[in-house]
Amino acid sequence: MSSPVGFLGLGFYVPEKILTNAELEKVVETSDEWIRTRTGISQRRIAAEGENTSDLALKAAQAALADAKLTPQDLDMILVATMTPDMPCPSTACILQAKLGAPQAAAMDVAAACSGFVYGLVMGQQFVACGTYRHVLVIGAEVLSRVVDWTDRSTCVLFGDGAGAAVIGPTTRGQILSTHLGSDGTKADLLKVPAGGVAQPASVQSVEARAHYLKMNGGEVFKCAVRGMSEAALKAIEKAGIQPEQVKCVVPHQANIRIIEAVVERAGIPLEKVYLNVDRYGNMSAASTIVALCEAVKEGRIKKGDYALLVAFGAGLTWGACVVKW
Ligand code: UT7
Repeated sequence: MSSPVGFLGLGFYVPEKILTNAELEKVVETSDEWIRTRTGISQRRIAAEGENTSDLALKAAQAALADAKLTPQDLDMILVATMTPDMPCPSTACILQAKLGAPQAAAMDVAAACSGFVYGLVMGQQFVACGTYRHVLVIGAEVLSRVVDWTDRSTCVLFGDGAGAAVIGPTTRGQILSTHLGSDGTKADLLKVPAGGVAQPASVQSVEARAHYLKMNGGEVFKCAVRGMSEAALKAIEKAGIQPEQVKCVVPHQANIRIIEAVVERAGIPLEKVYLNVDRYGNMSAASTIVALCEAVKEGRIKKGDYALLVAFGAGLTWGACVVKW
């Protein structure tokens, strides 16, 4: 792709309320020890009552626009990656557009679960690269605390709420050098919210069956995540024309520390190069990769000239990776 596309601004927001493992011990039969050793998670953020995905997205967007020194009126397009939209219709991107005050922007949601931010980034990149749009706001935002089953210990301990935003445009700062996306719909059953769509509309039975909550075959997803993320990472590195050892910082989807360890081992990258925040936030799905990128840049883990690798995996199944040069 000819014209450079990169990051004009970054911002994120996580809700104030912290839910610790110790507090979760009072909700389900679990232990801080199990959660930390099996996942690496110590705490997660939980949205306040009435605080929706679009509200988290709004705060992240405002921070990213301030960082980019742009106003909402400068935006040409808004892409919100989420698996927890405010409502099935209209898109959370349109709801956010109204709250943000960006009337001239085209707006739509991206449905690629935990890989959503990387998918959104690649979509936005195309619009900028071909000159259709100049400033695209790409967001990953989730309120997973309202779709997890708080009686299911195998899932409720894993997830958290948050939002991250990037304004992308024609710049060489954080230039996107290569991308790789993939999906495997034959494994859709491994991670899903079965009800609430047309296949199983909301009914008394669907509510009684707790079918509106997230269901996951954790062990299978774990194996697919390790394979999918490591392959995506290596493909993006190869397409960028660099060697794995040239990657300065890996910014992975933060679902489980053991998945991340296995991924970088397969990719031949030492764990010290990985930015980790899974201990503080748990799995924030689409928000995970972008919040980690914001923090990694803010903390100086990614500096001018560094190669950084974003890599994500989620329901669908979906996966994606990209190499950026900061
Ligand atoms: O964002 C992308 C999507 N998500 C993921 O990437 C998550 C992928 N999966 C995972 O991270 C892991 O599979 C889990 C963290 C979900 C589970 O870890 P695991 O090492 O695969 O454990 P397991 O499912 O094999 O369960 C081991 C045991 C079971 O007990 P038994 O059958 O061996 O007696 C579970 O019942 O741990 C039990 N268990 C728990 N114990 C205490 C499951 N959840 C809990 C819990 N507290 N919260």
